[in-house]
Amino acid sequence: MALNQAKIITVTSVKGGTGKSSAVINLAGILASKQLKTVIVDLDLYSGVIAASLRLDSPNDIYTLVDDLMNNRFDNIDDYTRKYNDYIDVLAAPLDPRSVNKIRPKYIDIILSRLKLKYDVVLIDTNHIIDAINLISFDASDIILYFITNDLMDLKNMKTMVSIYEDMNIDNYRVILNESINTSYNYNLYEIKNLIGTNVNYVIPKSFYNRKISEYVYGGKIMTLDKNGQTTKGGQVLTKIINEIIKK
Ligand SMILES: Nc1ncnc2c1ncn2[C@@H]1O[C@H](COP(=O)(O)OP(=O)(O)OP(=O)(O)O)[C@@H](O)[C@H]1O
Ligand SMILES: [Mg+2]
Repeated sequence: MALNQAKIITVTSVKGGTGKSSAVINLAGILASKQLKTVIVDLDLYSGVIAASLRLDSPNDIYTLVDDLMNNRFDNIDDYTRKYNDYIDVLAAPLDPRSVNKIRPKYIDIILSRLKLKYDVVLIDTNHIIDAINLISFDASDIILYFITNDLMDLKNMKTMVSIYEDMNIDNYRVILNESINTSYNYNLYEIKNLIGTNVNYVIPKSFYNRKISEYVYGGKIMTLDKNGQTTKGGQVLTKIINEIIKK
């Protein structure tokens, strides 16, 4: 391991479609170019997209892993992850959504602890719902990244989350305004900060919008592993986020 201590990073949101999964894939690209062993855990259990977006196929996923853990068939975590390159592995969401409700949340905790022993970074993609599985991932995380867009409902829900964190005295989260998918400017940054009741820590600029994104998704490619991917303004913001996390 290149880091003294493994980090768990959870990417989440308070509304669907704010760019979480794309960000997870691009953050993994940045971690890989820093030669940090990274496992992406797709906790968007009902509709995970990570394995498919990276063109990774395998019969195993989080459900088969949990099932084997429960039935004492588990041997090696490598049997369940899929390899993208020398630095990025993926633990995929269940292929069959009908198996999701058989996953008991405590097993997610067990899986995250095991992955921490093997990787520098455990990078978790989630859905935007606050359920038992996501709460376990939040609790286990060194940092939680909230991706928000310039949208009133999104900002209102973020305000609620900020109040909850304040009540609980929790501050290991960052707010990232993603302007690369919702390019409308309903509010300026000052108004957004007032609406959500806290600082916006990072802004992914409009220029990170990629009209050829489907070519990346269909080709299983990662923008930030491309020649120019990290030098774009958006790539630089994602690099800053990673640098802040790994220097701690
Ligand atoms: N930089 C970008 N440029 C162009 N399109 C993008 C970019 N980032 C994300 N998108 C597109 O925006 C949509 C939503 O992105 P994504 O799936 O990453 O969001 P999400 O928050 O994971 O969504 P969900 O809540 O459904 O899991 C997708 O169609 C994705 O391809
Ligand atoms: Mg997603």
